Amino acid sequence: MALDDIARESWATRVGFILAAVGSAVGLGNIWRFPFQVGQEGGAAFLLIYLFFILLVGLPAMLVEFSIGRRAHLNPVGALREYGGDAWKYVGALFMCIAFLIMSYYSVVAGWVVRYFFGSFTGAYLEDPEGYFLEIAVGIDALLFHAIFMVAVIVIVALGVQRGIELAVKGMVPALIVLLVGLAVYAATLPGAGAAYAYYLSPDVGVLAEDWRSIVPAAAGQAFFTLSLGMGIMITYASYIAEDQNLAEDGVMIIGFDTGLAILAGFVAFPILFAAGIGPADPGAGAIFIALAGGFGEIAFGQLLGLAFFFAFSLGALTSAISLTEVVVSYAIDEHGLERTRATLAIGGGMFLLGAPVTIDLVMVDLYDILAAEILLVTGSVLMMILVSWIDPGKALDELSKGIGDLGTLGDAWIWLVRVPVLLVLLVSLGLAVVGYVEFLTGPFAEFLGG
Ligand code: PHE
Repeated sequence: MALDDIARESWATRVGFILAAVGSAVGLGNIWRFPFQVGQEGGAAFLLIYLFFILLVGLPAMLVEFSIGRRAHLNPVGALREYGGDAWKYVGALFMCIAFLIMSYYSVVAGWVVRYFFGSFTGAYLEDPEGYFLEIAVGIDALLFHAIFMVAVIVIVALGVQRGIELAVKGMVPALIVLLVGLAVYAATLPGAGAAYAYYLSPDVGVLAEDWRSIVPAAAGQAFFTLSLGMGIMITYASYIAEDQNLAEDGVMIIGFDTGLAILAGFVAFPILFAAGIGPADPGAGAIFIALAGGFGEIAFGQLLGLAFFFAFSLGALTSAISLTEVVVSYAIDEHGLERTRATLAIGGGMFLLGAPVTIDLVMVDLYDILAAEILLVTGSVLMMILVSWIDPGKALDELSKGIGDLGTLGDAWIWLVRVPVLLVLLVSLGLAVVGYVEFLTGPFAEFLGG
């Protein structure tokens, strides 16, 4: 056993690992980004493709990261170097840049959530849901709450108290489930509910045929974003698990929680938006905030429920943000010998600065978000999948079989699934994403720059 193996701690329990992974996965991706993407990409057609990506791509990709991580018991950079050879450490370095970029704007959006939590004390958002969102989402308010959120993350990561995550997730996930189910039941009674369900649940082939060029990359990006894949988080978490643990079972469980919560969020958002006469695509990044504020304004004890909801939602964003920051910090500590407090301050400070421009205008959210989710995360996963499926499947198969037993043909099926169909779909999606991003840069973004 290598020296750093002895020094490395493991998850005290299997539940601890699953909770941490769920804590990373469940966050803004489920409750903010998911309804926002569904709305923007035409409803059920997007949902269908998204679910397809979760199962066909998300699960195999998660198993790829789990096997790389558990095999090496190292951070993503070290683990990839171990798996593929020296050159792969640059891919690990790319992952650190992706985490850095994601965290920079994640903190801005999480700042909105925290702002709504405080707003729940006074009921500030109940009067004019749309106006309130537009007011707090940009400008000095947004910058202030971006700073508040980032400071909270820095303190937690610097103190190294991630163990509290298990506790936070144990409270946050059940609370979110209960509140979302309750809100979905209320939303079902609204006059627009029928039309909303049709929009959300029955895919329109016409929409799919017409818009697949934007639906496919959006769905792929959302799948990776929500499952925390494509930048080494799951490599890191798996590096702490025991050899006898069944990685496939754990993956299915984590994905189940994550997907369930996202779908629930849609059952809340769309009926409320339809009832209020707001087109589901109109509010863009504000969809869930405007829907929730509208809903809480109409129901008994709405303000109190809002308080509970935004508290649980803030916790969800916090546990994901900690995972994003922690990968970069632990890399700086492991590979460059930095001291924890200093590393966290420098990295967290840098993330804050990079995120600050996002508070200028909502178009900046897209500028960061499309690049991160649809292009960078997908690229990250494609690279890992090439390594594991084409270059050296043996190690991953060997690792996955620990804790499961003989994989038989299922193992080969996994590798072949990744090798051809999954990679093909992802490469097409990546190409479309790049085209879409260029269109965004030369269209809405250029317009914004031009004033
Ligand atoms: N999965 C997290 C969420 O849904 C965000 C995240 C993305 C975390 C990528 C880590 C890596 O909020």
